[in-house]
Amino acid sequence: MRKKVIAGNWKMNMLPNEAIRFIEELAPKVKDTENEVVLCVPYTDLFYALLTAQNTNIKIGAQNMHYEESGAYTGEISAKMLKAIQVEYVIIGHSERRQYFNETDKTVNKKVKVAFENGLKPIVCVGETLEQREAGQTEEIITNQTRLALEGLMPEQVENTIIAYEPIWAIGTGKTATKEDANKSIQAIRNKIAEIYGQTIANGVIIQYGGSVKGTNAKELFEMSDIDGGLVGGASLKVEEFSKIVQFEK
Ligand code: 13P
Repeated sequence: MRKKVIAGNWKMNMLPNEAIRFIEELAPKVKDTENEVVLCVPYTDLFYALLTAQNTNIKIGAQNMHYEESGAYTGEISAKMLKAIQVEYVIIGHSERRQYFNETDKTVNKKVKVAFENGLKPIVCVGETLEQREAGQTEEIITNQTRLALEGLMPEQVENTIIAYEPIWAIGTGKTATKEDANKSIQAIRNKIAEIYGQTIANGVIIQYGGSVKGTNAKELFEMSDIDGGLVGGASLKVEEFSKIVQFEK
């Protein structure tokens, strides 16, 4: 049985004092869940979030990293730096980074490799635009993004990669993919992984859905056969709402 992983992506929100208060309030609410709870926070919150989340079941992640280990890359943060402060997860290739910051399938692949080399768990985002969806290209786009992100990884690394299927038209729009559509896309991703790395590996890969996940739709989405939890944007900024999503079974 694959574990459900519910990860919040705070994007460019939350000051350190807000992060601390959020985690202090969330921790007692989610302490008994069997789901993995992750908060991917801005760099400036990482240290405070890690300290506050100590002795809780909340794991902390970053939202990006550079693929070089060190050097003249003003403004960048390396995997080694994240690992040094005990960050566990890192989001790679979010559509906002692909759209606004020149992230490509190639840089995503480099980053995934370097994340593993440094003991970080990557959450790799894939997803189609509305135009691509309307042109019937969804499966082709998302399976290609997946294949390129995982290229050259060892089988056990593939098995430990979390993929987040986030249709771009569903991000921050209030429009959620139907549970059947989301499940079908995620199955296509799993089938592609099976084709390259074998069914056993593919069956172990955690594939999340992201895009307007809320307390009111989490249950129906996460109960689908292939949806292993979610990557949550807006709704991860409110303690009550996020705690409901984490405990969607209730
Ligand atoms: P929303 O949940 O706000 O639609 O954002 C989804 C997302 O981009 C998570 O990474």
